[in-house]
Amino acid sequence: MAILISGATGIVGCELVAALLRVPAGPAVYVLVRGDRAAVAAKERWLRGWLGPAADDRLVVEFGDCAIEGFGVSGETRRRIAREVTAILHAAANTSFDLSASEAFATNVVGTRNAMTLARSVRHLERFGFLSSAYIAGPRSGVILEDAARTDMAFDNEYERSKATAETEVLASGLPAVAYRLSIVLGRSTDGVVSRLNGGPYLLMRLLHDGLIGMYPAAEGQTADMLPVDFVARAVTYLFCDAGLTRPIYHVCAGREAITTTDFYTLLLEALAHCDPDWTAQGFPAPLGAPLAAVRAFRDTVELVAHSRLRAVVRRVDQCMRPLDVPKTFDTRGFTHDLAPSGLAPPSFRSYFPRVVGYAARNHFRMRPLPWEP
Ligand SMILES: NC(=O)c1ccc[n+]([C@@H]2O[C@H](COP(=O)([O-])OP(=O)(O)OC[C@H]3O[C@@H](n4cnc5c(N)ncnc54)[C@H](OP(=O)(O)O)[C@@H]3O)[C@@H](O)[C@H]2O)c1
Repeated sequence: MAILISGATGIVGCELVAALLRVPAGPAVYVLVRGDRAAVAAKERWLRGWLGPAADDRLVVEFGDCAIEGFGVSGETRRRIAREVTAILHAAANTSFDLSASEAFATNVVGTRNAMTLARSVRHLERFGFLSSAYIAGPRSGVILEDAARTDMAFDNEYERSKATAETEVLASGLPAVAYRLSIVLGRSTDGVVSRLNGGPYLLMRLLHDGLIGMYPAAEGQTADMLPVDFVARAVTYLFCDAGLTRPIYHVCAGREAITTTDFYTLLLEALAHCDPDWTAQGFPAPLGAPLAAVRAFRDTVELVAHSRLRAVVRRVDQCMRPLDVPKTFDTRGFTHDLAPSGLAPPSFRSYFPRVVGYAARNHFRMRPLPWEP
């Protein structure tokens, strides 16, 4: 038995590989990474270093680019996958929030179609897991159920639209498919470490650290659903490997335990003050929770002002914040129910968040480029 995973060099993917390899006498893990021969070798070295002793001979790294037809795998690799793989977990995606529609479509929709084509060539496929996002709910408010996504609406960005489209196609494919709709993923709960500091929440932390967030939308019950990557990886691994094919969609989210947006900023400021007293001495005013209409009026006004730097900064802030504009709660009843036998539960946000901020601050909210990056 072998599991094939894409996106293993990403924030979530490397922790998923770690969690899969932690399963005693668990399956072999085939990882597909993109790039030329040197890049593939560099990614394998990096992944083995990240995993440490867990990276035993059950780990196999091969070339595979989801944007290429057939995932770009060689005939020999394809035959081996067809023979040995029994489950595919497609985690690769372009996760930037500033993608054009065609860029997002090329990796996230076409890439998922290519992963499904590969899955159809597998002789004994038991499961096709797709890492989706809870925030494909876009601007919908209220309680978001673990049910079919909508694709016929305005989204906050092209990333959300492409993930909603891909998820819909996966679930209609006839494959034994499950969509794991992830919350916003932060560093590990134990030490705050994360493989890349380039996700939306880290950009938000950096912008706040730079004194560039003056206000944020805050309404009654407005939350920021976030989870640490180690919990996300363990939960997805358990559901993928052990929980059976009981339901097609899980909200891997904090749900009703999600932190309010106001508490998020308060705790972020506290954590920054603790780990960077010099920053506190600069006296940046704390951002204000304001009605969404006021925040949007400010954004619109800045668009009218012919000051390119100001416009660029406000657009950047808007990009990270927009998915949190509208109050919503992710229903997690299916997720909580099916996860219960594992004994896993999300750690309390207040307990681990200072470690997440501490790690990000020590790295100046920026990651050194990974070995294969320019
Ligand atoms: N992180 C979050 O907060 C979050 C929240 C909700 C959902 N998700 C979903 O969870 C999954 C993993 O997210 P992440 O945060 O780990 O992403 P990430 O850190 O941005 O990593 C993306 C991964 O996809 C790979 N990839 C991109 N294009 C590829 C291609 N054409 N062929 C093969 N691999 C390619 C990247 O490889 P390279 O190293 O070569 O770039 C990298 O391994 C994604 O599907 C994402 O939509 C993430």
